[in-house]
Amino acid sequence: MKIALVGFGNVGSAFIELLYEQREHLAKQYKFKPKVIAVIARRGTALSKTGFKRAADVKFDGKAILYEKAIRDAEVIVEVTPTDVQTGGIALEHCRVALKMGKHVVTANKGPLVVAYRELEKLARQKKVQLRFEGTVMGGIPSMILGLDVMSIANIQEVRGIFNSTTNFILAEMESGRTYADALKTAQERGYAETDPTADVEGWDAAAKAAIIANTLMGGDLRINDVDREGITKITPQMITDAKEKNSRWKLIANVKRTDSGVTASARPMLLSYDDPLAQVNGAASALTYFTDVLAPITLIGSGAGGKATSFALLTDLIRIHVGNG
Ligand code: HSE
Repeated sequence: MKIALVGFGNVGSAFIELLYEQREHLAKQYKFKPKVIAVIARRGTALSKTGFKRAADVKFDGKAILYEKAIRDAEVIVEVTPTDVQTGGIALEHCRVALKMGKHVVTANKGPLVVAYRELEKLARQKKVQLRFEGTVMGGIPSMILGLDVMSIANIQEVRGIFNSTTNFILAEMESGRTYADALKTAQERGYAETDPTADVEGWDAAAKAAIIANTLMGGDLRINDVDREGITKITPQMITDAKEKNSRWKLIANVKRTDSGVTASARPMLLSYDDPLAQVNGAASALTYFTDVLAPITLIGSGAGGKATSFALLTDLIRIHVGNG
């Protein structure tokens, strides 16, 4: 499988390393031999006919190459540039162009999905290629495959969870006495936080994931500003201490619900008592619960962020394309 990787930050380089690390297992188990033949980044384009083995092999020559030309020989585009959930940003154009050229698109970028899911999905159908996005909603938790498959069959009525690792980590660290700024710095160092951490702490990231769930799993058509959103920046150390005295914790809770007037979504801080299962999801973990018509609630808990977890989500999408499982 010839891949063009678009974006070469934390996730992009971790993705190449993961392919290298798992190469024997993937070849043996799936006869899957991926080759990253192009890496397109802000600083230039790097091309390799034989494929880049390690992240350190990727060298940009600084020459500008037209995007269409750089991805011409690839079968799949892996899009991991920074997210813009208001406009979709350049990533939206990357996805559009690639799909129009008849290439599969695998993305961890929330922007295109929030802004133009229906358009992109239609384009993929017309071109008979796949648009896959497991990495957009908590890379370390297989939320989309389960949601698109089993949970959809059971008819999803509501999804609730902790969709953002950075804020969950900050709140837990503040509870153990660290300052907000200090905890945020660690989240950035460990690669949980978005390129611009305002996206995490003001609730944009959780809201975007809620919109993606609404749009892709529940037939909604929400944009980011349709999500009722509030971040964690108004939560003070005092509020955290007060909560503790009442055996409670502040959590940034996302919720997507079917109502009589359509699908609604929110992402805002809530005070949960210790006996709420989500109150026990601590550190950089994240979680989501599916409420369906048929099954009892199903909760997934995992580590939702970081380069490796997100790369793994990209890899699962690539394997599905490889085995021809639409
Ligand atoms: N910044 C995100 C988080 C990364 O903290 O959850 C995954 O989208």
